[in-house]
Amino acid sequence: MPKVTFTPDGTAVTVAPGENLLRAAMLADVAVSASCGGDGTCGKCRMVVEQGTVDTTVTAKLTAEEIERGYVLACLSTVTDDVTVHVPLESRPGKAPVRGGSSRQPNVVLSPEDRAVRVPRQASPPPVAKRLLRMNAPDLTDNINDASRVKQTLKRVHGIREATISLPALRELPQAARDGEWVVTAFAAEPCDTMPIVSGFQAGDTTSRQYAVAVDVGTTTVEIALIDLNSGEVVASGNEYNSQVARGDDVISRVIAASKPGGLDDLNTLIVGTLRDLVEGALARADVSAEDIVSYYVAGNTVMTHLLLKISPEFIRTSPYVPVASEFPWMRAAQLGLPGGRATRLYVTPCPASWLGGDIVAGLVAAGVPWTEKLTLFIDVGTNGEIVLGNSEWLVSCSCSAGPAFEGGGILHGMRAADGAIEQVRIDDATLVPTIMTIGGVKPIGICGSGLIDCAAELFMCGALGRDGKFRTDLDSAHLVQGERGLEYLLVAAEESGTGRRIVLTEVDVENLMRAKAAIFSGISVLAESLDLSLDAVEEVVIAGGFGHYLDLERVTALGMVPEIAPERFVFLGNGSLLGAKLVAGSREVLRTARHTAETITYLELSVNAGFMDHYSSALFFPHTDLSLFPTTEKLRKQRFTNLAVI
Ligand code: FES
Repeated sequence: MPKVTFTPDGTAVTVAPGENLLRAAMLADVAVSASCGGDGTCGKCRMVVEQGTVDTTVTAKLTAEEIERGYVLACLSTVTDDVTVHVPLESRPGKAPVRGGSSRQPNVVLSPEDRAVRVPRQASPPPVAKRLLRMNAPDLTDNINDASRVKQTLKRVHGIREATISLPALRELPQAARDGEWVVTAFAAEPCDTMPIVSGFQAGDTTSRQYAVAVDVGTTTVEIALIDLNSGEVVASGNEYNSQVARGDDVISRVIAASKPGGLDDLNTLIVGTLRDLVEGALARADVSAEDIVSYYVAGNTVMTHLLLKISPEFIRTSPYVPVASEFPWMRAAQLGLPGGRATRLYVTPCPASWLGGDIVAGLVAAGVPWTEKLTLFIDVGTNGEIVLGNSEWLVSCSCSAGPAFEGGGILHGMRAADGAIEQVRIDDATLVPTIMTIGGVKPIGICGSGLIDCAAELFMCGALGRDGKFRTDLDSAHLVQGERGLEYLLVAAEESGTGRRIVLTEVDVENLMRAKAAIFSGISVLAESLDLSLDAVEEVVIAGGFGHYLDLERVTALGMVPEIAPERFVFLGNGSLLGAKLVAGSREVLRTARHTAETITYLELSVNAGFMDHYSSALFFPHTDLSLFPTTEKLRKQRFTNLAVI
C-alpha cells in the first residue's frame, strides 16, 4: 500500500491505492485548511509534491507557475504510489504543525476475500434455484403422470428427494412441459427446515437466467442487491430512504403509527412501495426480467420485518415486549406485491427477539462469527445499538436505544450518510478551525454520524468541549459562537456550504450524541459483566452499520462509545445485514447457519437489568466517569489540551 509522508510534520501513513490525498492528511492528523469539504472550490487545501507523484485534476485555483512548482489541491488528488508532500503554512488552519508522528493505519474494512475466508461453508447450492429437467415424453408404455415424471427427474439428476409440487406449479406444468417438448425449468426450493418444494415451471431451458434479490430493510434506508445466481455477481444494486420515514424517524414511532386505525396497512404499503421501486429500477438497469427472480432474501430488524409482512408490531413496544413471531414461513413474493413471477419465493431472516432482528443475524453471518473460535464483540450502530458477544460456541446479545443521532436524527444539521454529508472532521488545536471532508467531495450540506463523532471527539480532545458535553466559555475562537440555542461550534460558514446556511454543532446535538454513546457503552459493559468477562479478553471487535470506512477509531474511543481495545483488533464490516442476506441467497448451508444462529443466541433484556442504569449514568460523560478505563485517551487529551488559546 502506498505511503504518504507529510512535511514538515514528519508524519507518514499508509493508505489504499487511489485514496484521496486530503483524506490521507486527515488520517495522519495533519491539519489542512479545507472549508469546501473537498469540493475543489475553496482552493485552500494546497500541498506541494516533493517526491513521487499523485494523480491530480487541473484546477484554476492554481496558477501555471504553481503547478510547475509541484502544487496540487489535496482534495483533487489521489495517491497511487509512495509520495512525500509538503503542507505549506498558507494551507494550515493554525500557524504550524501541532501534532506529528502519527503512525495510524486505515480502518480494516473486510473485503469480499476476507469475508469468504470467514464463511467457510459457501460451497452449497442456493436455497432456491432453477433446475433443468430433460424428461422423456410419455407414451403408452411409459404413462406415469407429469408430476411423478418431474419428481423422478429431480431425484435422478439433481438428488432432490421427496419434493412436493405446489398447486400453482401443478397448474403450470402440463403446458410448460409440452411447450418445451419435455424440457422444463423448475423453480426448486430446498429450505433447510421443510421438504423441497417446486413452486413453478418455465418451458425449455431458462437456467442461464436466474437471479436473487438480497434486501436490507432498515428503519432509515432500504438497500438491495440483484444477484446473478450463476455467476454470484451483483448485477445491480440500489438504496433509498424507507418511505415510512414520513411516519416517524425511529422504530417506536413506527409501532405507534402502525397501531392507529389503518396504520398497519399504510406502513406496509409504504415499505412495499419503496422496495418495489428499488427492485424495478435494478431490474431495468440490469435488463433482467422479473420472471427470472427465483427468490428474495430479506433481513431487517424485528419491527421492520413485521411491517413488511403486515403483521402488527404493537406488542413489541410494551412489556413484556413480545413479537408475534421470530420465524416466518417461506412465501411467494407476489403475496407481498413485489416484482417477480408466480414462482418467486421470499425468505425472511428470523428475528431472535423484539429488539434483536434478522439484520443482526445476517450481520453475524457476514462477519463469520458463527464459525470463529475468537471471542468476538459485534456492534451494529444505528437507531438501536445491537451488541453481541461470543463465538461459534455461544452468543449473548442485547439491544440499547441509541436514538437516531448516529443516523443524523435529532441533530440540528444532521443528515444520513449521503453526498454532501460531512463525514470527517479534524480541528486545529489552537484556533479551532476545522478541516472537513464530505461524502462525494461536494459542498457540505449537513453532518452524518461519523462526522458528528469526529467533530465532538476533536472538540473534546483539544479541550473546547468539557467532559459534561458543554463548550468552554473562555475560548478565543471565531468558531465558537453564541447561537439561538447557546454556544455553537461553527463547522461551515454560510457562504461555503451547499445550502447557503451555516452548519453548526450545538450543545443539544452533543447531548444527544452523549446519550447515544452512553447507551452503546453500557450495553457492552452489561454483556461483559453478565458473563464475568473482562473486555481485555475480546479478540476481535466487528463494527457493522452504515458508518463506512471513515469512522475514526481513536475518536470513537475518545468519546467513550467503545472500550479502549487495541485498534488492530477492530474490523469494519459495512452493511452486515445486506452482506448476510447476499450470502444466504447463494448458499443453503449459510441459510441453515443463519437459522441456527437465530435459534441459539441468548438475548438479555436491558430494561430489566439491574446494572444497566448504573452503567449508563457512569457513561454520561466524555469518555466516562471512570477515567482509568480510558488511559490512552487521557494521555492524548493532555497532549492536545495545552495548545488551546484562551481569552
Ligand atoms: S479546495 Fe480542497 S478542500 Fe476546498
